[in-house]
Amino acid sequence: MAEEQTDSRGESRQSFFARQQLLDSAKATFQLLAAVIKNATLYPEAHPILLTAADKLRLKIEELFVGRKQVAFYLVGGELFFETLSVPIDQSLSLLLEQFVARSVGGIIFKPGLPSQELIRFATLMNREAAVFTGQAGVNEALDKERILHVELHRVMLVDKDIGSAIKEGSKKAAELYKDAVGVVKDMVQAVNLDKASNLRAVNSVVQTMVDNVLENRDALMGLTSIKMYDEYTFSHSVNTAILAVSLGTFLSFEKNQIASLGVAGLMHDVGKVTVPHEIINKPGKLTDEEWEQVKRHPIEGALLLADIPGVTKLAMVASFEHHQHGDVRGYPQVEGELRQHPFSQIVALADAYEALTAARVYYNSQMAPDEAIRIVIAKRGVAFNPILVKAFVNMIGLFPIGTLLKFDTGEIGLVLHQTRDLMRPRVLLLDKFDGSEKDKETEVSLLETAGGAYKRSVAGTINPHEAKIDINQYLT
Ligand SMILES: [Fe+2]
Ligand SMILES: [Fe+2]
Repeated sequence: MAEEQTDSRGESRQSFFARQQLLDSAKATFQLLAAVIKNATLYPEAHPILLTAADKLRLKIEELFVGRKQVAFYLVGGELFFETLSVPIDQSLSLLLEQFVARSVGGIIFKPGLPSQELIRFATLMNREAAVFTGQAGVNEALDKERILHVELHRVMLVDKDIGSAIKEGSKKAAELYKDAVGVVKDMVQAVNLDKASNLRAVNSVVQTMVDNVLENRDALMGLTSIKMYDEYTFSHSVNTAILAVSLGTFLSFEKNQIASLGVAGLMHDVGKVTVPHEIINKPGKLTDEEWEQVKRHPIEGALLLADIPGVTKLAMVASFEHHQHGDVRGYPQVEGELRQHPFSQIVALADAYEALTAARVYYNSQMAPDEAIRIVIAKRGVAFNPILVKAFVNMIGLFPIGTLLKFDTGEIGLVLHQTRDLMRPRVLLLDKFDGSEKDKETEVSLLETAGGAYKRSVAGTINPHEAKIDINQYLT
């Protein structure tokens, strides 16, 4: 029995050895991968030397699968990571890393059940010219075409090298993720437009990345939803809605797979809009009754489109159908009998409404301040939205969401950067020049700060950045 009782030093020694072992296996895996990729340039697919190399690699990967659902390598800033461990690399591996970097590969994830033949096909693919690897959608397409089902390639980094710089890094990563996600939704909508087929894998992998990222740094993603693009409105709206829905799912401690399907539901909720003529969706003025009827069909069209796409979760279909039904009779499409919105539809509806309120639409020429949007959502609790969800949403976003401009009783002006435990007292960046230069200075303060037993500053009101002509995006990017 005594042997089982390890003191803390023993424990850390044990974990040190376990870690070293893991690092050795990870390094060996990568070396074997380098060998297979090299051999694939020298030998035909069925050559015994290539087959033997692929078998060895497969066995090594299988070793790493013990206790894991996937084996994930990441390439961050010229370094190789196995999960969060930095893998020491020598000359031979650095060449392989360059090869990956040239193809914009930031992550390689192996899934269980991976056959050796697939590794050979993967190696052959990695030897093809870098032009094949354009965008996440292009990469996924190439993998699909080569029938590589157990290897995922990601362009987005998920791992922080240094937890200390996590927030800064996190915002950078989130910006990339956002761009990527916009690209995927765009591809998706185009694909649906063309032949109703779609690249599910691309959507799922972005959502997975989104989930991972949100779990890592919610603030970074929440901040991004404040950055509205003046064009490609439906795309950015879908991405933002997904981010908000995923964030709320995370906030409510949903299971990871539930959060992922919430993400897909958020990304896809407005896909039916592709059946509405472009001129109507982008019409600056008021819609005619007839045009409005057409717009109102988008939840039905969306559900029909999603029903035709194999592998799309039923919930995405349901959420598309129900996201404008709300809790009252004023929603659409109208159905017979008692209205029962699925909880996921309720979440997507809430995220959708908040997103639409804060979005900067080219034809509205004005953007509602986030705190105003939150107040509208609160006012509709119990009417259009589930009050429990609204409460959680407000707790998550804060009464003064990230990106809100505040005026303080001291006469100063500040921009909300983070929430604190007190919904009324977020952390803010004090602004005086409004040209973005404050970002580099140490002017970040918490409204919880006190002096002589009293708060140093309190919120006296909010300012609409559009009316005040202050560009808040320069502080949030
Ligand atoms: Fe919609
Ligand atoms: Fe929407």
